[in-house]
Amino acid sequence: MPAEINTELENATGVDVSAARAALREVAHEPGSKKPDPIVVADNVRRTFGGLTAVDVQHVEIQRGVITALIGPNGAGKTTFFNLITGFDRPDDGDWSFNGQSLRGVAAYRVARMGMVRTFQLTKVLAKLTVLENMRVGATGQHGERLLRAMFAPFWRHQETSNTEKADALLERFLLIKKREDFAGSLSGGQRKLLEMARALMADPELVMLDEPMAGVNPALKQSLLGHVKSLRDEGRTVLFVEHDMDMVRDISDWVIVMAQGKVIAEGPPDSVMGDQRVIDAYLGSHHDQDLSVEMEEQILAAAEAEIAEEHGEEPVQTASTSSEGEQRG
Ligand SMILES: Nc1ncnc2c1ncn2[C@@H]1O[C@H](COP(=O)(O)OP(=O)(O)OP(=O)(O)O)[C@@H](O)[C@H]1O
Ligand SMILES: [Mg+2]
Repeated sequence: MPAEINTELENATGVDVSAARAALREVAHEPGSKKPDPIVVADNVRRTFGGLTAVDVQHVEIQRGVITALIGPNGAGKTTFFNLITGFDRPDDGDWSFNGQSLRGVAAYRVARMGMVRTFQLTKVLAKLTVLENMRVGATGQHGERLLRAMFAPFWRHQETSNTEKADALLERFLLIKKREDFAGSLSGGQRKLLEMARALMADPELVMLDEPMAGVNPALKQSLLGHVKSLRDEGRTVLFVEHDMDMVRDISDWVIVMAQGKVIAEGPPDSVMGDQRVIDAYLGSHHDQDLSVEMEEQILAAAEAEIAEEHGEEPVQTASTSSEGEQRG
């Protein structure tokens, strides 16, 4: 039972989870709001692809010890933002820190060693390696075997035995222990998601970043995954996850950050953000599975930011009209 395992792993990082969650009550429900104990702080992080501005985040802080959901329509820049802050991609500009230490220019494997580990939107397991070998090698061919070996090799070199024990404990926890010797290629989509999450924990991360952990997972396994994500928080890890399924977001998030067209356009607890009609209309409604046309997105954004401006008086708002949104995008 996951509950038993939670207890066993609780306080892994010494973070007071209840205090971290309670502290969020004091945080303003607005883009870029200051957090009482941020684990990640990003400033002016921008990434363009040709004429397209995929990410243009002025300021964002991720609270330590809680579950933060990063949501927004397809193409909002969520995955690109993940790639940037974990060192898998380089921004045009900007700075960001983890535990107060700048990560600008820091390679992905170093970021992982520092305690900030991510999973991928398109799940990456090595099909021709066993489940246990996947845990040990830690790998995603797509991002270069060398890099990924580098991410995990130092960890493994000197600690073979204890790491096998650690892998087994994680496989047990993620209900994959019976698959230990099976090829990862034989796992279902959901089991691969579990394996990827389990593998991320081999590095004992403080911050776990999950890019659409529930996508393509059957309903029964979804419940199990939800439990696992909550258990990460309960043992003191910080979780930042991208998800389109708003029931999931509502169920497990302490805080929600909404991105659209590369920018952070709203923040708040799930009920506040999701009860916000402009957010529902713009990002959570029937559009979330489709690409919105740029024109439609711009219309929605303009309406949303007018409302945000109204709600926050004269406060400048970090949304489309304050930027070069007028620049032609195709
Ligand atoms: N390597 C790339 N080259 C060119 N354009 C890219 C590249 N990566 C991302 N983009 C573009 O940047 C924008 C943001 O993409 P990104 O994948 O970050 O969005 P997302 O919010 O993760 O979307 P989804 O919810 O569909 O996963 C999109 O318009 C996308 O087409
Ligand atoms: Mg994505």
